[in-house]
Amino acid sequence: MKILALCGSLRPESSNMSILKTIQTWLPDGVQYEIYDNIGLLPHFDPTFNHEDVPGEVVRFRRLIANADGVIICTPEYVFGLPGSLKNALDWTASSGEFNEKPVAIITASSSGENAHASLKIIMNVLTSHVPDTSTLLISYIRTKINSQSQITDAETIDKLHSVLQSFLQHISGKLPN
Ligand SMILES: Cc1cc2nc3c(=O)[nH]c(=O)nc-3n(C[C@H](O)[C@H](O)[C@H](O)COP(=O)(O)O)c2cc1C
Repeated sequence: MKILALCGSLRPESSNMSILKTIQTWLPDGVQYEIYDNIGLLPHFDPTFNHEDVPGEVVRFRRLIANADGVIICTPEYVFGLPGSLKNALDWTASSGEFNEKPVAIITASSSGENAHASLKIIMNVLTSHVPDTSTLLISYIRTKINSQSQITDAETIDKLHSVLQSFLQHISGKLPN
């Protein structure tokens, strides 16, 4: 099973990146996991590019999604919405369709995060990915739930993250051929 992880924060000390790295340590054997870390290097989305001249990093990004059995997105909220870099990355997949029927887990870890969480659910629905409610989690007040060593310190948050991961892995397993 191959999982791709996307982080909506470019901050070196990002709590969202810490969550994605923590999840990596919980995965069962046999699950390949890659965090795509070039989201900030993707060019601005421009729909006038046709198939032949799409920038190389976009081609790589699309291929990583296409080859993944599932994608975990973990993001903060900025100014009541999705971070521009994440929205830009998702826009690059709108016409090429890599998220079509792809199992996706959505984790929003932010000060509040309600708007970005709701917005990301709508966007992934429009991109026709599969996002079961049990594979989504909003973590508000994230900075009070993680320490300076990037460890999640809130037991309830750890439990909820385990549940989301469990649900997500089961959802992917149900779609994989035996
Ligand atoms: C310019 C700016 C705007 C922000 N706007 C919001 C916001 O609208 N809602 C919210 O929940 N958090 C907001 N935040 C707080 C971030 O979500 C918070 O710092 C979060 O921890 C960042 O994620 P990271 O630790 O993964 O980088 C904002 C932060 C910055 C720097």
